Amino acid sequence: MTAHTLDGHEIGEWLRFARLLAGDAGALIKERLKAAENGTRIDIGTKSGPSDLVTDVDRAVEALLVSRIRHQYPAHGVLGEEGAREAGRPEARGLVWVLDPIDGTTNFIHQRVNFCVSIALYAGDQGLVGVVYDPMREELFWAARGVGAYLNDRRLRLDAPKTLRESLIGTSLTWIKRARKAGVVDRIWTIGERSRGIRSLGAAALETAYVAAGRLDAYLSLQLSPWDFAAGKLIIEEAGGAVVDFLGTPLSLEVPRLGFLAAHRDVAPELIDILAPWAKAQPDA
Ligand code: IPD
Ligand code: CA
Ligand code: CA
Repeated sequence: MTAHTLDGHEIGEWLRFARLLAGDAGALIKERLKAAENGTRIDIGTKSGPSDLVTDVDRAVEALLVSRIRHQYPAHGVLGEEGAREAGRPEARGLVWVLDPIDGTTNFIHQRVNFCVSIALYAGDQGLVGVVYDPMREELFWAARGVGAYLNDRRLRLDAPKTLRESLIGTSLTWIKRARKAGVVDRIWTIGERSRGIRSLGAAALETAYVAAGRLDAYLSLQLSPWDFAAGKLIIEEAGGAVVDFLGTPLSLEVPRLGFLAAHRDVAPELIDILAPWAKAQPDA
């Protein structure tokens, strides 16, 4: 971390603030869902392609988060999926809030469940606070550096031994489309054969938090953006899990070039054995 000394008081303040933000974002989302039941439409648009969806609720939630951060911490930087980009002032010593206002927008539109709000505070590549909130189930996954990871009030610790054979693996079907192009489909097939099965929920931040909670034993994707994993990465690390690429190299907050793997520490090496030959063959390796 840049010029930061880790001050427990400051981290506690940021954590309290992030938790409040998540609650307010969740309340706004639920309000909009209720209004939709009473006939107020949710506007749905597309971004990079026909399956890359965004709604006016995603934008409203990001606007709420950004305005609350600006008010509370005007010097801090902001990086949000729906366009918020602010470097932050020098006195903020590199502190940046990384926001995914709704992760799992497709689920939000189709299912009204299985989505979350993801909020993280980073100093460079070091996560300080991470919050993943599922407002429909009222589940708050959170972590602060050195404080541990929690689901609501329950401490999350990935300390019981695990093998791939007894693991449930999460991945994304978007990934499988890309994976076919990238020539890594046979690797996923092998993971399916050597584990208890593969699940695809469609909300990377939530699936990463589920690894910390032991509901999945690993989550892998070929391509994620920083806002998809910033909060989940700290939550997993504080729970004792690993966040690495397919070669086993710890990830920064950059877009991972050789895959994203969040896993129980025992399961990660078995998955890397399967995935590394593909990663080594990439021009970027
Ligand atoms: C997407 C979801 C999806 C994952 C994509 C993400 P969004 O985020 O997390 O599960 O496969 O890579 O972009 O667009 O719903 O915030
Ligand atoms: Ca996302
Ligand atoms: Ca999103």
